[in-house]
Amino acid sequence: MSDPKYVIDELISAKAIAARVEELAREITEFYEGTDKLVIVSLLRGSFIFTADLVREIKLPIEVDFLEASSYGNSTESSREVRILKDLRGEIEGRDVLVVEDIVDTGFTLNHVLAILGTRNPARLEVCALLDKPSRREVDIKATWTGFEIPDRFVVGYGIDYGQRNRNLDHIGAVRFIE
Ligand code: IMP
Ligand code: MG
Repeated sequence: MSDPKYVIDELISAKAIAARVEELAREITEFYEGTDKLVIVSLLRGSFIFTADLVREIKLPIEVDFLEASSYGNSTESSREVRILKDLRGEIEGRDVLVVEDIVDTGFTLNHVLAILGTRNPARLEVCALLDKPSRREVDIKATWTGFEIPDRFVVGYGIDYGQRNRNLDHIGAVRFIE
């Protein structure tokens, strides 16, 4: 069988993303005003572009670290099983930790990551998610800051993939299967 054919419908333009990222960064900068112990924890791989844009608008001294948590497989269905594939390099005890995530879908990934980071005794633990699909939620969890609420569509672009493709789109699009 050949790969399924699909087209990508634009949901959020590059311009709209840039404007929202600027707003989020302004709120984050105000929230953490005065701190010199902020660690940005970027969840790989989907949030790499969002993180890169967001941190450049945050006007505070920060460190950036990376954590990769993954559900199994390459499908469009989130798995409930969450594994840490790559842990942080640095210690977060006593630090202000801001987790940067691409999408909160069922909430399992974020819930698991926050539970793990919470055991390391950060001073504060917050989340900034670019996208939220509230209608898909199975775990009662919400990011401190959310870029956009979106409908229950499978999305790609701006770092987010379908089968590892389309991360390099400059906007967010929804995958629509054809034939
Ligand atoms: P959750 O554990 O169900 O909240 O899933 C969160 C993760 O699933 C996200 O960090 C993404 O990596 C992935 N994911 C959820 N929805 C989408 C989507 O629409 N496109 C691509 N990846 C998605
Ligand atoms: Mg992810």
